[in-house]
Amino acid sequence: MDRRSFLTAATASLFLPASQTLPTSASRTLRADPFTLGVASGDPSADGFVLWTRLAADPLSPDGRGGMPGRDLDVEWQVATDERFSSIVRSGTATARSRDAHSVHVELTALEPGRDYFYRFKSEGRLSPEGRTRTTPTGEQPLTFAVAACAHYEHGYYTAYRRLAEQEPDLVVFLGDYMYEYGPSGYTALAGRVRTHTPGKCATLADYRLRHAQYKSDHDLQHAHAVAPWLVAFDDHEVENNWAGSVSSTGAPGFAERRADAFRAYYENMPLRRGSLRGAVLRINRRVSWGSLARFHLLDTRQFRDDQACLDGVRAGCDDRLDTGRTLLGADQWRWLEDGLSGSDTRWNLLGQQILMAQRDYKVGPGREVNLDSWDGYAPERTRLLSSLSGTSNPVVLTGDAHMHHQADLKTDFDDPDSPVIARELVTSSIASDGDGYRDRTWIAEALAENPHISYIDQRRGYLMARLTRDDLSVDFRTLDYISRKGAPAKTAHRLTIPVGEAAEHRR
Ligand SMILES: [Fe+2]
Repeated sequence: MDRRSFLTAATASLFLPASQTLPTSASRTLRADPFTLGVASGDPSADGFVLWTRLAADPLSPDGRGGMPGRDLDVEWQVATDERFSSIVRSGTATARSRDAHSVHVELTALEPGRDYFYRFKSEGRLSPEGRTRTTPTGEQPLTFAVAACAHYEHGYYTAYRRLAEQEPDLVVFLGDYMYEYGPSGYTALAGRVRTHTPGKCATLADYRLRHAQYKSDHDLQHAHAVAPWLVAFDDHEVENNWAGSVSSTGAPGFAERRADAFRAYYENMPLRRGSLRGAVLRINRRVSWGSLARFHLLDTRQFRDDQACLDGVRAGCDDRLDTGRTLLGADQWRWLEDGLSGSDTRWNLLGQQILMAQRDYKVGPGREVNLDSWDGYAPERTRLLSSLSGTSNPVVLTGDAHMHHQADLKTDFDDPDSPVIARELVTSSIASDGDGYRDRTWIAEALAENPHISYIDQRRGYLMARLTRDDLSVDFRTLDYISRKGAPAKTAHRLTIPVGEAAEHRR
């Protein structure tokens, strides 16, 4: 069976009625299928990956416990080299602990590099859907990867996840706003609302667990997880809009506890390695190499930052944003990144990060207004980062957050037309946030005229699909015309090819 037919089979199994799951000898103690949240894998290495599932017989149970009993349950798992599971190469039993919301994170090692693997779980007499994942290669084999972000559940159907899955990338890079913390209609899209969040704004561990379960119940999202390993990173909405380090954007008390609860629920619902949650810190800045072809440097631009300057927002005339003492990455992550960039021996270096790095003037005409939550609010550190990147082999920056596709040139001085291009920034639009897109050509022309280093903007929903080889990086900016109804096709609205050696464009 080839990849295409696996996908069909996997889809079919996602929708198998419970009565058609395989019979087993285990005693059945749950009346309902506990695999309602699908399966996932992540953080591949040359010899392994992490496998994830979370048991939830009743995903929308208001207490966030997924309708599960208050005891630990065994979950068997299998890894095979074929989609029929006739050649099982690893198997074992994990414990889905009640205190972890019955999630399991299984870390595999000592597998073969550069190949597909198939996996599934079994618990309480039920079999999970199957997933496909991959180990990374050891050489310069090509890589097809998707980049996605921002999936507000109320704003539209997850057709973009479905289309992304149909393209069967080797890897999915998710750059934040996987879920939103708002209560019903807490953030309304122009196109309205097609679905409704679980009650209330997320404030407690139970709220966050329940919201994640609601999102994970979506079959298009489950499908996207089942076709490839993901590299996930959170931004703000997995906790709260525009939080910064230890500071809530609303100033509400108890933020430390709320953040810890949100991190815990995020970890429980994501294919992250077990060591990533360390007390109240969730470490997501990490490196993942794709053989000698590429290294992903995933950043955390939220957890270690100083508070936004000038009370946040899109504003003019904020001198504090130019204070050289302010940090977005924090001292430890900064050192980690510098070490990783200077020590990298791969052909390409891909920075996966959350917020717009290019300068962006939102004011049409004279004067300038910038978004103080993005890198514009931390401009001196951006200059330092770009200076470091200028010595890195073929750097490319991948970004989420903006809810619009952007293609930009990154420079140490955006106001100087002669300032050399250090790297390109590729910003993915949202999967769903802001609802049906549109294409306002006048608005786009004005935005591009204000920002000559930005060469493409698209306000429609979508994702990026990139093909990386030793010779070039080719990126399709994929768009959908609507998500308020199901079934929109995805189109390539724009394509960029960066030949190796031309990621930076030095002054002639
Ligand atoms: Fe977002």
